[in-house]
Amino acid sequence: MKIIASNFKTNHTRKSTKIFIENINTFLNENNIKNEVFVFPTATSLDSFSLNTNFTIGTQNAYHTQNGSFTGELGTDQLDEFDIKTILIGHSERRHILGETQQQISQKYNYFKSLGYKIIYCIGEPLDVKEQGLTETLGYIWEQFDGIDLDYDNLILAYEPVWAIGTGVVATTDEIATIHKKIKKKINKPLLYGGSVKPANLQDILNIPNVDGTLIGTASWIEEDFKEMIQITANIK
Ligand code: PGA
Repeated sequence: MKIIASNFKTNHTRKSTKIFIENINTFLNENNIKNEVFVFPTATSLDSFSLNTNFTIGTQNAYHTQNGSFTGELGTDQLDEFDIKTILIGHSERRHILGETQQQISQKYNYFKSLGYKIIYCIGEPLDVKEQGLTETLGYIWEQFDGIDLDYDNLILAYEPVWAIGTGVVATTDEIATIHKKIKKKINKPLLYGGSVKPANLQDILNIPNVDGTLIGTASWIEEDFKEMIQITANIK
């Protein structure tokens, strides 16, 4: 069964997140949907929710610590309060806007791996790399696996070309098929696609070989659209 994940980024309030999550849970129940569904809300919206076993709330980020003096960061004490055991690591906005290096990312990865967290690990090339061709693109992506244990059981990968994130420019079917095939050949883990996924293109993307699901930003923030995309995902066998 295909996976669907929503990354809220810096959107929704604590109040609107609660309503969103509860309504999605009701939707999953009413439609008997068993696919794995993830939502990554803002840190201020993390909470204890009573959800179906296939619906998981994760954190968009955290620091490799239990607690301590790391201003602005979350540790596992804060995540444990809400039983959060799922984390997004390596997202392009953290790499390219917040300046996380591969070394910091692998440190974070190894810490949360040691605690058994489910990790959605993101990779993807910026436009200037894509324009240099497939070899350079793959070379760039392989470097994003430096220090990352690819045998980890609780690992899900997400290929998200940077030029397709939040831009409305989705990678073509051929582009997605090519990169996913290469990654899968090397790493046999669930592999999501992300980058301008929306109700209108989701089904085509899910039908591409080696696409095990999607990680969705912008289009997932509207509850009705996210429900529609969950239903599309559930309809694919
Ligand atoms: P987008 O974001 O769907 O808005 O392109 C995807 C992501 O960053 O995970």
